Amino acid sequence: MRKIKVDLGKRSYDIVIGKSILDKLAAYLRKLNIGEDAYIITNTFLKDKYGAGLLKVLEAGGFSCRFKVVPDSEKSKSLENAGRVIKDLAQFDQRRKVFIIAFGGGVVGDLAGFVASVYKRGIPYVQVPTTLLAQVDSAIGGKTAIDLDLGKNLVGAFYQPRMVFSEIDFLKSLDRRQVASGMAEVIKYAIIKDSDLFCYLENKHENISSLKPAALERIIGVCSGIKAVIAGRDEKETLGLRTILNFGHTFGHAIESACGYKGYNHGEAVGLGMIAASDLSYRLGFIDKKLVLRIENLIKLYRLPVKLKGASMQRIINSFYHDKKFVGKQNRLVLVRGIAKPVVVRGIALDLIKEAIGRIA
Ligand SMILES: NC(=O)c1ccc[n+]([C@@H]2O[C@H](COP(=O)([O-])OP(=O)(O)OC[C@H]3O[C@@H](n4cnc5c(N)ncnc54)[C@H](O)[C@@H]3O)[C@@H](O)[C@H]2O)c1
Ligand SMILES: [Zn+2]
Repeated sequence: MRKIKVDLGKRSYDIVIGKSILDKLAAYLRKLNIGEDAYIITNTFLKDKYGAGLLKVLEAGGFSCRFKVVPDSEKSKSLENAGRVIKDLAQFDQRRKVFIIAFGGGVVGDLAGFVASVYKRGIPYVQVPTTLLAQVDSAIGGKTAIDLDLGKNLVGAFYQPRMVFSEIDFLKSLDRRQVASGMAEVIKYAIIKDSDLFCYLENKHENISSLKPAALERIIGVCSGIKAVIAGRDEKETLGLRTILNFGHTFGHAIESACGYKGYNHGEAVGLGMIAASDLSYRLGFIDKKLVLRIENLIKLYRLPVKLKGASMQRIINSFYHDKKFVGKQNRLVLVRGIAKPVVVRGIALDLIKEAIGRIA
């Protein structure tokens, strides 16, 4: 079991990671002293598969519980759904001792965090992430969000959880694509911050892909540690430190958007985006061809796509220039000068961007 602190002064919290640790959850919650009534936001699959076990642990710890099942997938992150959840929560909150448990992947985590941030101007919540992506990324750092028709994640706040509790056993039921999607973020951390992790991913591919608990605990621990440090230093993305977490994401978002958020899931699009960003790093003379190939091979090793299907170059370029991360009219991209050497570059010529997208087209 590992424990990692996100250092935010009085709002600091722990990330607890381990295998078969669920029976310790109630004791951790008791120590936090955040309430008596657990409002568990989740989806049907997770409630059916793990709900009874979770309930047993929480009730044994003296908590009263209510499950709130929300629709699977991104459509849960809507204003309408958030409204429904908040009304239901208000009915459950009779004793004024309520706290929220986000029990699911990034969708549930973003929605539950959002609800926690606005209900009564903010009530405590904990993240119990159940996807690899959520354990290494979305559950940590306090970004909460729901979507509008106009775009994803447009409504939300920075609102930190009181704990992130990453039970590795939950990952056993993920399908191959969901695992690969989380691995894209793991590969991202390795490229921007950790050459040892990069080599580990290359060398221990079989252990990781077959979900060996020790390997998972290691990579989740390392990635959580990286995110904890960055989110701790630049909580609200005001210092530019969080920017490097967007490696592969500007291209990735453009691909997701050009495909109408169908076809590629987030990690798959980020994998393609990391290849384009690496290729661009090479074209600007920052890295050699060998490293681009090494990165591409690692992405391929984890069964992520390395070539685009079904989106035209022009649509990707159009989406690219609508990305909210662009400052003014100038484009801005996270590239690399080597493993663990990220660099933010502005004002890159359109021709070069097209050539980089050409590599994955
Ligand atoms: N807040 C942040 O910092 C941040 C960062 C990255 C992504 N996100 C958000 O996260 C979301 C994507 O997260 P995600 O990839 O976890 O998607 P998700 O929450 O939609 O989960 C993916 C699928 O896996 C299923 N699932 C969850 N746990 C499972 C388990 N243990 N076994 C089997 N199936 C399981 C879900 O029901 C869903 O069908 C997006 O909405 C994105 O915007 C937020
Ligand atoms: Zn991401």
